[in-house]
Amino acid sequence: MAIEVRPVTPADIAYVQQSLTAAFHGTAVAVHGELIDASDLPGGIAWEDDEPVGLLTYRAVGTDWEIVSIAADRPGTGAGGALLVWIFDLAARSGAARVWLVTTNDNVKALRFYQRNGFDLVAVHRDAVTRARALKPAIPRELDGIPLRHELELEVRF
Ligand SMILES: CC(C)(COP(=O)(O)OP(=O)(O)OC[C@H]1O[C@@H](n2cnc3c(N)ncnc32)[C@H](O)[C@@H]1OP(=O)(O)O)[C@@H](O)C(=O)NCCC(=O)NCCS
Repeated sequence: MAIEVRPVTPADIAYVQQSLTAAFHGTAVAVHGELIDASDLPGGIAWEDDEPVGLLTYRAVGTDWEIVSIAADRPGTGAGGALLVWIFDLAARSGAARVWLVTTNDNVKALRFYQRNGFDLVAVHRDAVTRARALKPAIPRELDGIPLRHELELEVRF
């Protein structure tokens, strides 16, 4: 079944909240020292046969576009890839110089996914997750036996 990405509309708020809560323990995302309510941001939803299957939210600051969140309901079925194609196209058409994001040191699946989709690792922010935990105590201390401590910054330049 083909996946189609459409911009988030106010009618999608229930899915936006559900998707963010499932993936990030709430709608607030703690990254680079900020607590960002991703449910307030613009974004895209991946739809498969009229069912929402993934969400990406972003912030555009000048020519710098940040993916604040991305999550698929059923990983490995194409929603994440479709959402990246959508944001790359939108950002390029809007004159963005780069699309960037932050992931965490435990998330080796996401790191693989981003690099396979053109992202380049540009910085490691040591102990940034330890600091983010002060803003969002729900961030786990460990996942898959890996301590969550560092933020990895990746980008695609146009
Ligand atoms: C990271 C994440 C967003 C990636 O999204 P995704 O929907 O799983 O990504 P895709 O399905 O497009 O691609 C992943 C793989 O599935 C494959 N795939 C895509 N459609 C497929 C299908 N219909 N059947 C089988 N495989 C498929 C892709 O080819 C890709 O394979 P590869 O890794 O060998 O290249 C997703 O795994 C996720 O939500 N993770 C949990 C939340 C998270 O960690 N978010 C990132 C925070 S920084």
